[in-house]
This record gives sequence, structure tokens and C-alpha cells, in this order.
Amino acid sequence: APLESLVGLPDFEEAARRRLPVANYTYYRNGAAGEWSYRNNLEVFNRYAIRPRMMIDVTNLDASFPTTILGHNFSAPFFIAPCARGDYGNIDAEKGLVEAAAAEDILYIPSLSAFLSIEQIAAYKAKDQVTFQQAYLNSNDTATKELFARAKASGAKAIVFSVDSAANGNRQRAARYSVSSTDTSYTLITWEFYEHLKTLTDLPIVLKGIQTVEDARLAVEHGVPAIYLSNHGGRQIDGARSPLEVAIEINQRDPDIFKQIEVYADGGVRYGADVVKMLALGVRAVGIGRPFMFANVWGTEGVTRAIQLLKTEIGLDAANMGVADLKKIDQSTYTGLVRKLVLVFK
Ligand code: FNR
Repeated sequence: APLESLVGLPDFEEAARRRLPVANYTYYRNGAAGEWSYRNNLEVFNRYAIRPRMMIDVTNLDASFPTTILGHNFSAPFFIAPCARGDYGNIDAEKGLVEAAAAEDILYIPSLSAFLSIEQIAAYKAKDQVTFQQAYLNSNDTATKELFARAKASGAKAIVFSVDSAANGNRQRAARYSVSSTDTSYTLITWEFYEHLKTLTDLPIVLKGIQTVEDARLAVEHGVPAIYLSNHGGRQIDGARSPLEVAIEINQRDPDIFKQIEVYADGGVRYGADVVKMLALGVRAVGIGRPFMFANVWGTEGVTRAIQLLKTEIGLDAANMGVADLKKIDQSTYTGLVRKLVLVFK
């Protein structure tokens, strides 16, 4: 399909499905077990409606929506989530993701399981491009320390440590094509270990995969600089709630968390309105995984187009909602919007 015929994020998946070998497509598409969490991540957005306000002058609305993420400036409140194996979608692997992130000035978080090495990805970075590096637990301290040092040397400004993978996900769709791990071991990630991790690097360590208000509160108590609500795109525990539902839980039970640390979230974000709903709940920036992996089948151009489409959608949605100043939907002023939206979040 010519790129111009792809007009929204879901289009990239359908077009990529027609292009890719079935095993490669399936690796990206897969969720755990019966894929309820995978489907719920997408469908939950439809259960929380927007109450648009009319008669508000939005003619000066600036569709670009600069955001800071851990103090770094980006042009949009969404980022490229860490996803393994860019080579399953493109012979140049992660090149298109890092280049498009630079071109559109958004954050890219390379996965530890990227096909390209940290250094190879860094070689594609633009001057001064800020990335964060995703990491998983490695019981070997020397290896972890070395990984953090390589990330820092490559210009990563934070570690995004995924805590939602104590075991492999039960991914049956991918297993049918032998593109799922058969490792049955468990790793233990504890708060004590987080304290230890902090001694291995001076980069901030964000925790990815937080899924309850209790763990969000513990993260604040342990001085975590930011948490990232995620059920791993429904790939780990089938039955885990959508990050949107977790963000609502935090709003209802301990909303101060949004003021105390930065909160990011991902899972099922496909449209501008999905992004706006997350932001209204106090989420600072929203991650997107599969759509960018599918867009990367068209390389830098494809990912750039996907980013541009989503930026445009956010602007259109905000205008239609009567949100005149997108820049004001940030951590300090979200409360008004939360009220506006949460009233409908029944
Ligand atoms: C992932 N995800 C992921 N997360 C992580 O911390 N490290 C990783 O290596 C990977 N790898 C990975 C591969 C693929 C193919 C997918 C689809 C996902 C999870 C990812 O960061 C993110 O949480 C989800 O993709 C978000 O959901 P959506 O946007 O794909 O619906």
C-alpha cells in the first residue's frame, strides 16, 4: 500500500500484515493466552466517553504539544515504547524508529532486546537527540553495571527498567510459529533490588509495568523518579487491566501520586482521543508500541508519517473538545480536565 493511503495508526497494522511473513507479523501482534488484556487495552477507551464543551474559541490552538519528560523537551506527549526485534519488520531494524523520533522530535526508548546494539542505534541518532534505554533484570551485577554504562555512553538520559516480566508471557499465537520464548525460569525483582540498582548508575531509573495504586505509592516512597503504567501490551498476564483503568484507580484512591512523580502509560493507544483521555487523567506522556513497529515496515518515512498523523489527530480532537490550549494539559493544570472527563468516567 502506498504510504499516503494509510491515514491512521490502525491502517499500518493491516498494511503490514499483508506485507510481512506471517511469523513476523504474529510476533508483533501477539498477546498473552486468550488475549483478553490485549483486546481490553484497545476497547477500554470506548467505555470512557468525552464530554466536549462547545462555544469555546479554539482558533489559536497550537496542535503541537510540547512536553517535558524527566526534564527533557519533546514536541509531543507521546513516545515510541520499547519493543524488541525491529528486524522482524524491516531489514534496517530499529533505524526507522530512531530516525523518525529525531525528525519529529519525540522520545524513543530502544528495547534491551532490540535487534541492533545500543551503539548501533546511537549511531543513527541526531545530534543532541534524547533517548532513554529500556532494561530487564540481570542477576549478574557486572553485566547490569556495564549495560547501564553503555547506555549512558550512548547518550541515554534514563533507564526504563521493566518490572513486569518475572517470567515469560504465555504467548500461544506466536508459539504456533516458533517465535515465542520457551524459557520457563523466574526472576525476582524486589524493592530492595531497586535500591541496589540505584547504586549501579547515576541515570534516573524509571519503573515500567506498574499496574496498581499500591505499587505506584511504593514507587513514590522509594524515590522512583517516574513510573510507567503498562501491562506490556497484554503480552505478560492475560487478565491484567488496561493502564487507563490503572490511571483511573490512582485518580480515585491516591491522586497526589500524579503530583509527586511523573506517570507515563501505554497500551492500546491508537487515536488522538486515546492520548487526550490519558493526559486528562494526569498521565504526562503516552507510549505506543505495535503501531510504530508496523509503521517501521516503511522505515523512517513510515514511522514519521504515523507520528505526524497522530499529532494532527490530537490537535483536531482537542479543538473539537473545546480544549483551547493544549499546552495547559500538563502535570500542573490537569485537575480541571480530570474533573471534566472523570465526570463521564463512570
Ligand atoms: C513489547 N514490549 C516490550 N516492553 C519492554 O519493556 N521491553 C521489550 O523488549 C518489549 N518488547 C515488545 C515487543 C513487541 C513486539 C511488543 C508489541 C511489545 C511492550 C511495549 O513496550 C509496550 O508496553 C506495548 O507495546 C504497548 O502496547 P501497544 O501500544 O502495543 O498496544
